[in-house]
Amino acid sequence: MSTTYQNLKDILSSGIYEYFFSGADDSVTLRENELSWKRFQIVPRVMSSPRSVSLEIDFFEKKWPSPFLVAPMAYLGMVHEHGDLGVALASAAQQFGFILSCHATTPLELISSHFLREELRGPLWFQFYPYGSHAEWLSLISRVQRAGYEALVVTVDAPVKWTPKAAIDAGFSVPANCPQPNLSGVPPRGSLTDVLKQAFSWNDLKWLREKCSLPIVIKGVLNPEDASRLCDESLCDAIIVSNHGGRVIDRVIPTAYVLKEIVASVANRVKVLVDSGIRSAHDVAVALALGADAVLIGRPVVAALAEGGAQGVAHLFSRWRDELSAIMAVCGFSTISDFKLNIDIRWPKEHLI
Ligand SMILES: Cc1cc2nc3c(=O)[nH]c(=O)nc-3n(C[C@H](O)[C@H](O)[C@H](O)COP(=O)(O)O)c2cc1C
Repeated sequence: MSTTYQNLKDILSSGIYEYFFSGADDSVTLRENELSWKRFQIVPRVMSSPRSVSLEIDFFEKKWPSPFLVAPMAYLGMVHEHGDLGVALASAAQQFGFILSCHATTPLELISSHFLREELRGPLWFQFYPYGSHAEWLSLISRVQRAGYEALVVTVDAPVKWTPKAAIDAGFSVPANCPQPNLSGVPPRGSLTDVLKQAFSWNDLKWLREKCSLPIVIKGVLNPEDASRLCDESLCDAIIVSNHGGRVIDRVIPTAYVLKEIVASVANRVKVLVDSGIRSAHDVAVALALGADAVLIGRPVVAALAEGGAQGVAHLFSRWRDELSAIMAVCGFSTISDFKLNIDIRWPKEHLI
């Protein structure tokens, strides 16, 4: 389990707490995810303070106000009554992007109708698990497109899904009457062989790429060779380097340790985003310094939602924007692109002998 959010045990039931905050198996990856960003060290420049700082980034031929997006997360309504809509509204108001999980309990149209109204908002994307037939995928995707979502995030790192063992031990299960208004089909069930029969493949992605006119973002890449292949075959417009917050299998590599290599293998052909274990604006600064174009925030959003509803989430986002701006200013940079290009970042292994 993560050691970061123990205080929430007084707010959430133990089953819900474990579902949101535990990792797979012994949670080794979850704990290492959180530590890994903190092992890198920034080497600032002095006497070069900018007069102002902009967090603006370029993405899919548009300018967006900040490099932050909320990671797609299922069942946020179990954490607080404000749920998906509360987080989406806080994101829009605070210039964060928002990625709606297909396992959200709020209809995708309701979220977009509110989110898109905000003038200075970040991007709005829909996360998709390809359940059901190809025809069912296309029918959901056309709904997503009609509702105004700006990209389709296809999560490819969880062909088999387990609820964390700690959550099951604490009695967690998804209630039978839990609404699931955004699924393309029924999630695969049964034996491992049954589930694997429906696993998403490279051929499925090629098919989807031909049929889907929205930008495609592939979530869950950890191997630089997969990243390279996605670009070589023009199968996506962006990649999210993610280990699903250590929730799928344990002992996988923290994203901080593979990010730089993936950025190199992608070589500016598509945008690279990252998540897993990012817990502060300092972690975000490290992710940008290692080459990420933007970052996804997961469990910190859940914690803020549990503690303070939509207002709690808005407060967290405002603080992180201020802190990232201050970090950039102290290091001597006024724009994200300048910071990414010129910041000196080190891992002690490289310079301590
Ligand atoms: C409770 C929970 C539910 C999640 N549900 C989804 C989901 O429906 N789809 C998806 O692609 N990722 C899902 N994720 C993974 C997140 O999108 C993200 O990759 C992860 O939370 C990042 O790690 P962090 O929370 O440690 O920052 C979920 C994560 C959590 C914690």
